[in-house]
Amino acid sequence: MVQSQTTRPGTAIVTGASSGIGKVYAERLASRGYDVILVARRQDRLREIAGDLGARFSVKAEALVADLSTESGVAAVATRLSSDASVSLLVNNAGFSTMKPLTETPDDTVRSMIALNITALTVLSKAALIAFKGRNAGTLVNVGSGAGFSPYPNIPVYGATKAYIFLFTQSLQNEVEGTAVRVQLVLPGAVVSEGWDVAGAELEALPEGIVMTTEDCVDAALAGLDLGETATAPSLQDAGLLEDYVALSGKVLQSVFDAKPAERYGVGKAAE
Ligand SMILES: NC(=O)c1ccc[n+]([C@@H]2O[C@H](COP(=O)([O-])OP(=O)(O)OC[C@H]3O[C@@H](n4cnc5c(N)ncnc54)[C@H](OP(=O)(O)O)[C@@H]3O)[C@@H](O)[C@H]2O)c1
Repeated sequence: MVQSQTTRPGTAIVTGASSGIGKVYAERLASRGYDVILVARRQDRLREIAGDLGARFSVKAEALVADLSTESGVAAVATRLSSDASVSLLVNNAGFSTMKPLTETPDDTVRSMIALNITALTVLSKAALIAFKGRNAGTLVNVGSGAGFSPYPNIPVYGATKAYIFLFTQSLQNEVEGTAVRVQLVLPGAVVSEGWDVAGAELEALPEGIVMTTEDCVDAALAGLDLGETATAPSLQDAGLLEDYVALSGKVLQSVFDAKPAERYGVGKAAE
């Protein structure tokens, strides 16, 4: 159904929309009536997807080719966020991983992973929140990962970038408190995508029972958004675990500031 201009939800920018989770986000958002701006490096794919979504859902669909591991690529998207008042949703989804110990990971890979997974997401979150807070409307979705909860073998940098997204996005939720702007953190587990090939990992090696389809992941993430969740872990059956994790980390934060060294270190004991 074609929605009238007044009931349209606005424009969604989806980073990493040329494959995997981002591609499905773009499709689902277009089906909800959003005009979509698809960001990634592979122009041919973006154009094909944009053409398909525009035709199927009668929305405007645009390819914005940008390498988000570069300053100029991030600036192109940030400029769009600050200059286009129709943008009501940003999905910061682009990211990549590599399955190697740190000592075997080339410096360039480390740099571009941090640039994409952390710097681009941070700068684009800032541009989005400035625009959204100015209009007191808009939604920011940051895609983290279950890999950010705890160290996992051979993804030392990737896991840490996702831990950054966890903490960073929670902090942004404090920044938008009392406004109509929404911030959602999405924490997928293992999801079918080309990302596994990019990482040099074998998705087929994982037990079938722990791998979610891309569609289920995005549908659950959007259902979480509709439910008003601030953090959505599509494959976490026991939501209480996430609540406990957040509560416990808050408790550690409150307890970690103390002028006295902890008793167990015995500091100052010898002099007594
Ligand atoms: N799949 C999983 O199991 C899983 C689990 C947890 C979290 N995640 C997260 O989900 C997000 C999407 O990953 P995915 O699994 O869907 O992988 P994917 O299919 O490889 O998608 C990654 C997307 O990011 C884009 N991208 C990569 N480098 C880029 C760059 N420098 N500039 C702009 N765009 C870039 C890619 O497009 P181009 O190559 O065309 O640029 C692609 O569209 C990532 O943040 C990932 O960490 C995935």
